[in-house]
Amino acid sequence: MKDNIILPSDISGINNTLPKTEVDFIGNNSRIREIYSVINLVSDSTTPVLITGESGTGKDVVARLIHSRSPRAGKPYIAINCAAVPRDVFENELFGHEQGAFTGAISKKMGYFEMANGGTLFFDEIAEMAPETQAKLLRVIESKSLRRLGGKEELFVDVRLLAATNKKMDDAINSGEMRKDLYYRFSVIEIHLPPLRERKEDISILIEYFLSSLCKQQKKNAKKFSDAAFNMMLRYNWPGNVRELKNVIERLVIMCQEDIITPNYLPVNITDSRFQEDTINITVGTSLKNAEREIILRTLNAVDNNKSRAANLLGVSRKALYNKLDRIEG
Ligand SMILES: Nc1ncnc2c1ncn2[C@@H]1O[C@H](COP(=O)(O)OP(=O)(O)O)[C@@H](O)[C@H]1O
Ligand SMILES: [Mg+2]
Repeated sequence: MKDNIILPSDISGINNTLPKTEVDFIGNNSRIREIYSVINLVSDSTTPVLITGESGTGKDVVARLIHSRSPRAGKPYIAINCAAVPRDVFENELFGHEQGAFTGAISKKMGYFEMANGGTLFFDEIAEMAPETQAKLLRVIESKSLRRLGGKEELFVDVRLLAATNKKMDDAINSGEMRKDLYYRFSVIEIHLPPLRERKEDISILIEYFLSSLCKQQKKNAKKFSDAAFNMMLRYNWPGNVRELKNVIERLVIMCQEDIITPNYLPVNITDSRFQEDTINITVGTSLKNAEREIILRTLNAVDNNKSRAANLLGVSRKALYNKLDRIEG
């Protein structure tokens, strides 16, 4: 007898389109290069991976890359935005149900776990998942099997799990949003994506990449930034990270009729100097020692840990900087 199985409903928050081509993950900063090598190492395994970082830093890109580089590349890739799926239907969508499991369950329904079998399931914004559902997810991870709602049979599933969050996990755990045990299961391998303002040397490569790919996509002549406009793009601190950069360029490609993009085409927040510098907030009452530590570490971050450039910006000798770092790290 053939089972009558309903596929999960097409609710928002679910994206099960297979990446058609290899995803581009652009960047040359040392932390990004380290992330490349971690992606290559973890792609072969089935260990869960937690991807963290501010919104727009490329968490989706990394999840897709891990899948497309893995032996599972030809199998399903299902991305679930946990914030967009209503909590009361989440478990039903995830695990499916048997016919008659509840009023209205007129036929058997397959959940995302079964759909992703052999492939990858990506939980975006994992801290938004209800804690009870998190507990059930953990059980599935440990036992590699599940029961459909109302079902007795244990179904074995082979699914690679990825999760992402833009929250500070310590806070989410303390507030009870994120279960500690599930966090520990996922954080065996954690990939943290730095904000764009901490890898400013990548801005020019990203500009070049988006400008050429978006001009092609929009069937426009190749465009270039004037030096002044380019410098403003480099100095801006990009609170929305790579997503914001891409959106700005897409808009310019469509709106700017000239081949050279001059500052008057740029959005006002980029041309306004108040937004251009990366800022450090130091609370009144901070000790000089801690303030100095913050300034030194943030400067090093901004110049990709290049000690000579940092010393130069800080107005001290390289030797003095090394001495200060010894004290900070010691
Ligand atoms: N390193 C990168 N190289 C190329 N494109 C990127 C990179 N990081 C992000 N993007 C692009 O920026 C946008 C936001 O990235 P996304 O992965 O959705 O961020 P997040 O999930 O962290 O909010 C997407 O259009 C993505 O393709
Ligand atoms: Mg995302």
